[in-house]
Amino acid sequence: MTDFDQRRRTLCMQLLGGLAGAALGGSAWARPSVDDTGKVFRLDGAGVTYAFGVNTDGQLQTLYWGSALAPDDRLAAPVPVPENSSNEMPVVLTPFEFPGFGGGLTVEPALKVTFPDGVRDLVLRHVDHRVDGDRIVIRLKDVSRAVHVTLTYAMDAATGILARSAVVENRTPGWIQVDQLAAASVNLPYADDYRMSYLTGRWAGEFALQTRPIVPGSIVIESRKGATSHQANPWLAISRGATEEESGPVWFGALGWSGSWRIHVDMDGLGGLRTTAGYNPFDFAYRLKPGESLASPVFHAGFSSEGFGGASRVFHRYQRSNILPVPPGASAPRLRPVLYNSWEATLFAVDEAGQTALAEKAASIGVERFVMDDGWFGARSSDKAGLGDWVVNRKKFPNGLAPLIKRVNALGMEFGLWVEPEMVNPDSDLYRAHPDWVIHFQGRPRSEARNQLVLNLARKDVYEHLLKMLDRLLADHAIGFLKWDHNRAWSEPGWPEVAAADQQRLYVAYVDNLYKLLAELRRRHPKVEIESCASGGGRVDLGIMALTDQVWTSDNTDPFDRLLIQDGFSRAYTPAIMMAWVTDAPNFVNRRVTSLEYRFLSAMQGGLGIGANLNHWKAEDFALAKRLVAGYKAIRKTVQQGDLYRLVSPQGGSNRSATLSVAQDGRQAVLFAFLHSSGLREAQPRIQLRGLDPKKEYALRAIAGKAVPRTPQRASGAYWMGHGLVVEMVGDFQAAAFVLEG
Ligand code: DGJ
Repeated sequence: MTDFDQRRRTLCMQLLGGLAGAALGGSAWARPSVDDTGKVFRLDGAGVTYAFGVNTDGQLQTLYWGSALAPDDRLAAPVPVPENSSNEMPVVLTPFEFPGFGGGLTVEPALKVTFPDGVRDLVLRHVDHRVDGDRIVIRLKDVSRAVHVTLTYAMDAATGILARSAVVENRTPGWIQVDQLAAASVNLPYADDYRMSYLTGRWAGEFALQTRPIVPGSIVIESRKGATSHQANPWLAISRGATEEESGPVWFGALGWSGSWRIHVDMDGLGGLRTTAGYNPFDFAYRLKPGESLASPVFHAGFSSEGFGGASRVFHRYQRSNILPVPPGASAPRLRPVLYNSWEATLFAVDEAGQTALAEKAASIGVERFVMDDGWFGARSSDKAGLGDWVVNRKKFPNGLAPLIKRVNALGMEFGLWVEPEMVNPDSDLYRAHPDWVIHFQGRPRSEARNQLVLNLARKDVYEHLLKMLDRLLADHAIGFLKWDHNRAWSEPGWPEVAAADQQRLYVAYVDNLYKLLAELRRRHPKVEIESCASGGGRVDLGIMALTDQVWTSDNTDPFDRLLIQDGFSRAYTPAIMMAWVTDAPNFVNRRVTSLEYRFLSAMQGGLGIGANLNHWKAEDFALAKRLVAGYKAIRKTVQQGDLYRLVSPQGGSNRSATLSVAQDGRQAVLFAFLHSSGLREAQPRIQLRGLDPKKEYALRAIAGKAVPRTPQRASGAYWMGHGLVVEMVGDFQAAAFVLEG
């Protein structure tokens, strides 16, 4: 095994073991069991059972996935599926855990390979299995050739979420080409009312929730863009017809991969439902020399019988405890500091005096982290030039960044800086020196987007250059935070310096080096936090989340649009990492005018940031902001790391929305309520809270807005959940926020 493969395997194991878990001194994974026949494997945790087994033909089949079975319930070992007709061969109907393309498989394979002699038939059979501490490892092998596959399963005891991955290893004497590799196939039995929810979008319109019935045929969600993408996010949920927000079964999963990916959901003619998640097979080829191996990303899959709300709460919890980085010595991810970001205020026109003036104003309202965005380096005065030249622009900062950073620190704030390491403007010294460093095909045009090209991070020299540059930047300056941007999709995905047969390794090797770069920077600079930004939310997935501390949800900072984006985001990902800014009105995206209070309350649903031009604020704006920032600091732990209840969803053009976050210790709950517009003197419905202790007494306190007269100031959890409260809201773009302390 080469270093490269070993590292990939290590990364995969780290993800399975949980980077956070490791920091916590060992994550709590459920102990898998194998029955006395040695044919049935079970993982049980947090009210969930996942079971699979091996049949007499050595095929690995799914047996069960859903609410917990009793410990003594015996599951019969699977049997080979009989032929249904000559047109539906058994392999097509078998609920394989990891099907190879071969033996007549015409449904989606998890693994497809090509051998040098043109053979493309791969029939995987069980070789052996072992319970390796808290994971179960299954080895499969082709019936005649030395292609070995190792499947790893680990279930988080606290959430019942299963992490699955696969490693394919070439032990044949010649090369093999991996044409397609998934982390897992997951099967559900026939039902006629399955529905699938997933997230699509576009720039400034990410995390749009889609739901559609699953009927025979395939649904594909994917990115072919080299990065996770705005267009679709690698998360899905499968529910039943009767599933609602707080009741009914939901099976969900997300792929931890920040490159091109695909999730393929297909229902066969007999109703079997299969989900296959992994590298996008489109334009994929990964040639393995003898002894080499390729690891898949990790697919994280969970189940809840408590509807979409239950599913997202359990997934958020899993992300906080198993995925997100935890600072050394801490037991949970760090709370997001309140930040200020200069982008919408100044665009590229950053300089020492202007940034200092903004920093002073930001500090006066309680900002904790001041972030200077694009424009501070090279010949960067627009998006046309300078990207790649990470030297401080001396016209804008005659004495370097030190005086600004010193002032920011003296104001009691941490300093953060924008970078976009993976990109280059052709009009840059870096590109002029290294035109071959970008992803391209020899002799072909190089398509630009935002006047930039993508550096080929798969190349060792590019990796080393970026590591050196970023390491130096962090070593030379008191930088506490990097906003790591990525502003375009790939084009012409060539890597001319390697043999033609190896060029498509790019899809894996690039992301692999991105992860390695982030991990190495974190190791060298453990106090520096990183935000994953990609023109907004174009790179949000469990892979990047393991190596970054927060994500930039969307460039769309309109507070009303954001309610929908944040609702979609919360279906898959925790508010603990979801950044939201208060910016100017009218908003640059849609010219919508909203009050400063409304903008604050919308942004307070996640990690609060301010991106407005503070030079335009009046004294009363500063006073309001100061009060709301202080109010936010008193509730942020609950908002970021509590249990989220989507009481009234903004989906489907709803005029109203409301969320409740309940602290893990149950002592605080935070309610946000929003109204789009009053019409026809309609009344406001009662908002019934959830997740409180019915017996505990909670005091109600308004952060903004008010409840209708005669609302009690104290009442039991039973009262707030049963009776509820009515929020007084009249007008357009109204918002209110309350704290309940118990
Ligand atoms: C895209 C990001 O999403 C914005 O917030 C900003 O950082 C710009 N890039 C800067 O070019």
